[in-house]
Amino acid sequence: MQTVSRLAKQFAPQHYDLSLHLRREERIFEGSVTITGELQLAQRHILLHAKGLTITSATIDDKPVTHAFGDNDELQLAQDELTSGQHKVQVNFSGKITDTMHGLYPSYYEEDGNKKEILATQFESHHAREVFPCVDEPEAKATFAITLHTEKDITVLGNMPILTQQEADGGLITQFATTPPMSTYLVAFATGDLHRLQGKTKSGVEVNIWATKVHPLENLEFALDTAIRSIDFFNDYFSTPYPLPKVDHIALPDFSAGAMENWGLITYREVVLVVDKHNASSSTKRRIATVIAHELSHQWFGNLVTMQWWNDLWLNESFASLMEYVALDALFPEWHYWEQFTNKESFIALQRDCIPGVQAIKTKVNHPDEISTLFDPAIVYAKGAKILRMLREYIGDTAFQAGLRQYFASHSYKNTTGDDLWRCLKEASGQDVTSFMRSWIDQSGFPVVTATLSDATLELQQKRFQIGATKADASLWPIPLGGSQASLRTMLSTEAASIKINRSEPIILNSGDVAHFITNYDELLLSDIMQLIQQGKLSSTDRLSILNNLLLLARARQTPTTTIVTALMALRGETDAAVWEIICAAIDTIKRCVEDSPEAETRLRKLAGDLATPPFKQLGWIGKDGEDENSKLTRPLLIATLLYAEVPTIVSGALAQYNKDPHVIPAEIRPEVLTAAVQFAPSPQEVVEHLIKIYTTTSAGDLKSDIITALTKSKDPAVHAKLLELLTSKEIIRPQDTPRWFAYLLRNAHSRNQAWQWLTEQWSWIEATYSGDMSYDVFPRYSANALASYDDLVRYEQFFTPHRRHPALARTIEMGITEITARAEWLKQEKQAVIDALNQL
Ligand code: BES
Ligand code: ZN
Repeated sequence: MQTVSRLAKQFAPQHYDLSLHLRREERIFEGSVTITGELQLAQRHILLHAKGLTITSATIDDKPVTHAFGDNDELQLAQDELTSGQHKVQVNFSGKITDTMHGLYPSYYEEDGNKKEILATQFESHHAREVFPCVDEPEAKATFAITLHTEKDITVLGNMPILTQQEADGGLITQFATTPPMSTYLVAFATGDLHRLQGKTKSGVEVNIWATKVHPLENLEFALDTAIRSIDFFNDYFSTPYPLPKVDHIALPDFSAGAMENWGLITYREVVLVVDKHNASSSTKRRIATVIAHELSHQWFGNLVTMQWWNDLWLNESFASLMEYVALDALFPEWHYWEQFTNKESFIALQRDCIPGVQAIKTKVNHPDEISTLFDPAIVYAKGAKILRMLREYIGDTAFQAGLRQYFASHSYKNTTGDDLWRCLKEASGQDVTSFMRSWIDQSGFPVVTATLSDATLELQQKRFQIGATKADASLWPIPLGGSQASLRTMLSTEAASIKINRSEPIILNSGDVAHFITNYDELLLSDIMQLIQQGKLSSTDRLSILNNLLLLARARQTPTTTIVTALMALRGETDAAVWEIICAAIDTIKRCVEDSPEAETRLRKLAGDLATPPFKQLGWIGKDGEDENSKLTRPLLIATLLYAEVPTIVSGALAQYNKDPHVIPAEIRPEVLTAAVQFAPSPQEVVEHLIKIYTTTSAGDLKSDIITALTKSKDPAVHAKLLELLTSKEIIRPQDTPRWFAYLLRNAHSRNQAWQWLTEQWSWIEATYSGDMSYDVFPRYSANALASYDDLVRYEQFFTPHRRHPALARTIEMGITEITARAEWLKQEKQAVIDALNQL
């Protein structure tokens, strides 16, 4: 690990006066920044961060100084002697506007046939230095007074409301109000020909939803309503008012992440903010509401109180991920949002956290180029959310909320570490939160609890759960067992325990899937559980988390994979959407075993068809108005399963729903209808061409997503070749979307080899396009999720070996090798038994 000195410890800025002249057409900007701050010790220089900037002149305390660039983006401004204490640094500079999707960058779009652009910023994690010299560390909080010179007749947005705006020299000068003390990674501005929908929260905060004029304003209504109600909710829940006078939300045509919580100016991908008012699926609305709630919760967690350093990134992201559920459960009670937690968070977290080499939630990071690797969605988001949910259950929501209120009361406008938060929660709950949480936050991985019945005693033992060849490991976790009987609602902190139970009552652990562990039940207990499932005596969350446990145990070869087939049989008649999601995941796992055994595959299709037919008969193709949420979410899963099963009436029924104008196909079932057309239409080539055309021209982000889903399910090698060719043509597929196309083509067994080939051939394009971006590591990551054979392993290892030392890729590649090795071994050992089991059905 490289060592990098922290600049905030030497020079702590208090205030920035920043003026930028954006020359969009020339693709440059010119700027001037004056920073006042405190130098800790007398020395001969002040260090700032700057990257890719040209410095034209600099002064300290109005005296000209020399400047030089050092390692790690350091800009050294030198003077003979500087006393400790207050100083004023002034720098004039210029920089370039490039297509990197960080720093200051353009978004491209077309309106009525005219090519147009928006300029916007993306500074997290360390890209403010690409736009102005600054101390670019979260701890270096300062106030910002920003002035922008831009072209006229456009909208200009910043973190704060506009103070003055006037035309001058054919352009526009916009001066924003000064911000409260804040970190550089949250500074933002955006300019373009935008329109908006406006509203106010109960407390009078102005809320705007902005988009290009390509999107009708009515398509911003859902976002506005959700944003206003989320702020009202957080104001109350945190008992700390949203601290700025306004919050803008802007949809950007080109955007690398999903959304970014810049204080007062939140930026989004269009697909997670704009939605067709007349035809949107429940899952699209849920996604949008989730992202809005997530970014708004950051206005408190992250913006008002900020981690001291990136190693505590989880203070931002784990919390925002938890707050999505707390807020949406209050805002949309009819969604039963917590019921999605297991699929959306636990499933992803457990599937990654079992790979040796995985990072802990809290991970040391030194060089900024390592920061991007911290944003592992499975760990710092999903696992982090789960651990915090476990804590919330453990101390109760009242104490949890009281602790958070105390946290904001004590630390607003400052920086914290995890221990500051634990202290507040400890005081509020009276429980030893610190040692409980440290174990889960600092330790990577999770335990499996083996449960064995011996008369009226349950013998329990905990052990680290891992796939692949495992080394001896003595790690222990404090595990809230959360069992179905009173004696099982206790903490297992030792390696083993014996607990008296009542044999005539159900025995399951981790009821409600609250804690981050899995259970390996002995045969007798498992067969009891299967009976409980068949008798309808387990909650939907327990049903799906049992199946999830089995998938993991099978993957690690701690239970035979055929058990999954048995479990699927026990789930006949299942109608719950969340359980159906995991049934689909289970079928995908089994599919791997039959990829080259047509007879067994036919059996698997039959099993899938048998499971999905009865509930689909109840639901039908189109829901009635006011249909319950569960039916809405289950229907597409059933149709997808029945299409996999190639049930003729479903294939023809789906083709009958197809329309040349896909905007009018009911959004709830559109991905499946388009998939059917791609796979089964009389002339699929025509459908493919047509959908590519629609993809290129439509402004409906959710339709574009549906088209990706459908086209990447093609079984035709000619279509795969065509799609892969498009992945690098920016006019058709935006670089922000390429990773998704790639992942889906890898997932499809028919296109997997070609997709891998594409990666090896296009690596220099991938490197040029993504290497400064946090999307870079998804290429080795997605590949490792999909590749399965020993041949694949050799190819993966050979190709990625030269990149094993790259800070943004190193961990992902190591884990990828382990993951593919384990999958290849699993397939080799389990395949035949699964085929035999299917053939006996
Ligand atoms: N702070 C992140 C965005 C981000 C991530 C910026 C990595 C720079 C590097 C933001 O709050 C976030 O988490 N966005 C998510 C969406 C969210 C709903 C999970 C994203 O972009 O995927
Ligand atoms: Zn976030």
